[in-house]
Amino acid sequence: MNTPDAKPAPSRHQRLERNITLMAVATFIAVAIGGIVEIAPLFWIDNTIEKVEGMRPYTPLELAGRDIYVREGCYSCHSQMIRPFRDEVERYGHYSLAAESMYDHPFQWGSKRTGPDLARVGGRYSDEWHVQHLVNPQAVVPESVMPPYGFMKKTDLTMPNIGANLAALRRVGVPYTDADITSAAKDLAAQADPDTDTADFLKRYPKAQVRDYDGDPKRLTEMDALVAYLQMLGTLVDVNRAAAQEHLAAEKGR
Ligand code: HEC
Repeated sequence: MNTPDAKPAPSRHQRLERNITLMAVATFIAVAIGGIVEIAPLFWIDNTIEKVEGMRPYTPLELAGRDIYVREGCYSCHSQMIRPFRDEVERYGHYSLAAESMYDHPFQWGSKRTGPDLARVGGRYSDEWHVQHLVNPQAVVPESVMPPYGFMKKTDLTMPNIGANLAALRRVGVPYTDADITSAAKDLAAQADPDTDTADFLKRYPKAQVRDYDGDPKRLTEMDALVAYLQMLGTLVDVNRAAAQEHLAAEKGR
């Protein structure tokens, strides 16, 4: 019979719990196993984003506009990520699909909305509206706190090495072809000049919009590039179709 104060020998688990070093090592091993199971497969699968029809790399002009967008910090007031909530979808359009930002380096989802989300602003306004709004936002929206960017209309677009930009993006996975890279400088100018032959350009960049954007056909300005970029946002993918296909694939997988 046990005497009242005789303690049973500690079990193995109790010994583990009382030894802080042993406990730390065991915790590390448990967390590491969880981490490996989650992370390791990512090294073997080709892509973590489902491809959707219509998504293509940016044209050189859109890419130049995007660089200006990043340079000017437009992301500090504008997001490019429509969340799947009713209030957002009713205001901005179909929620953003992961594939729609697959060629963004760096992505422009943003984290603050002083102004509206811009993920689907393409085609919502005319080029003239954008130019007027960027030159003087308060002329279009009197209560706007957006700063003016009129200098872009007067600044020639200088992208001396746009081919190298494309080549750098290709190294991080954007599927630019050799033809895209060698004709990058030509494509850059051609997209803002409706008088050039753009058949080959349009074959390589489907749905690219070719026209003079800034209202001054004689010059290629930063305004051309920025408006070309804004007018493309959210227009490449037929989102309703892509979302329906995703739904079908999920049903089949069940
Ligand atoms: C200080 C914050 C701020 C910055 C920086 C800013 N914006 Fe805005 N933007 C706003 C606000 C506020 C509005 C809403 C009022 C308006 O239309 O002017 C707006 C509206 C817009 C709209 C119209 C969107 C719509 O759906 O009506 C576009 C396009 C836009 N901004 C583009 C840009 C671009 C491009 C840049 C960078 C060159 C930029 N903004 C920088 C605050 C900002």
